[in-house]
Amino acid sequence: MTLTEIIQGRRSIRKYTDRQIPREDLEAIIEAGTYAPNAGGGQRAVIVGVRNAELAAGIGRMNLAHFDRSRLEGGYVSAEQPSVIDEPTLKSGFYGAPTVCAIFGPVNFLYSIPDAFCCAENMVLAAYERGIASCIVARGEETFDSPEGQELLRKWGVPAHYVCRCFVLLGYVDGEYPLPKPRERGRILIVEG
Ligand SMILES: Cc1cc2nc3c(=O)[nH]c(=O)nc-3n(C[C@H](O)[C@H](O)[C@H](O)COP(=O)(O)O)c2cc1C
Repeated sequence: MTLTEIIQGRRSIRKYTDRQIPREDLEAIIEAGTYAPNAGGGQRAVIVGVRNAELAAGIGRMNLAHFDRSRLEGGYVSAEQPSVIDEPTLKSGFYGAPTVCAIFGPVNFLYSIPDAFCCAENMVLAAYERGIASCIVARGEETFDSPEGQELLRKWGVPAHYVCRCFVLLGYVDGEYPLPKPRERGRILIVEG
């Protein structure tokens, strides 16, 4: 696959089989995240790969625990890969993905959010190249708010001044991998004078 094919073929997957991904793939995907552009060249983002379906599911439930549905009016994400916005009966924000990577950054660093999402983008592209399905998930900040969440961060050795910015779900698609969506028009302007 060329880079263009990878960029244009990747989709956000929200239906996963139980099959776990190989550790070597997880290592390569996390390494791709560490090569992302990062503000000031500081390489501050810390990535924790949770290759444990049960633990991933538990964190996925914590991710959705404080989800405020009252402000979603008109929201709609995907018919073929329904998100928690589309499907209120979903109990985990991680859709049964057997592996999840949590991306952390310093709480007071101005660019820690864009840094984390640059990592996430590299990771989902690297995953697709390897035939692994993925999805970026938000609400990192609130996911580990509980005593149970804080205990996990202590166990993993995440620095005390770091906060989770986002997640990358990893696994294998259950069913057909969806085709790319057509691009919305009128979003590009090239000015040459
Ligand atoms: C900043 C950001 C946050 C996202 N958060 C979520 C999320 O919390 N849950 C989810 O299911 N998808 C999430 N997504 C995935 C988007 O819903 C998805 O990229 C979008 O619907 C376009 O679909 P595609 O990636 O298949 O092209 C997020 C994507 C981005 C870039």
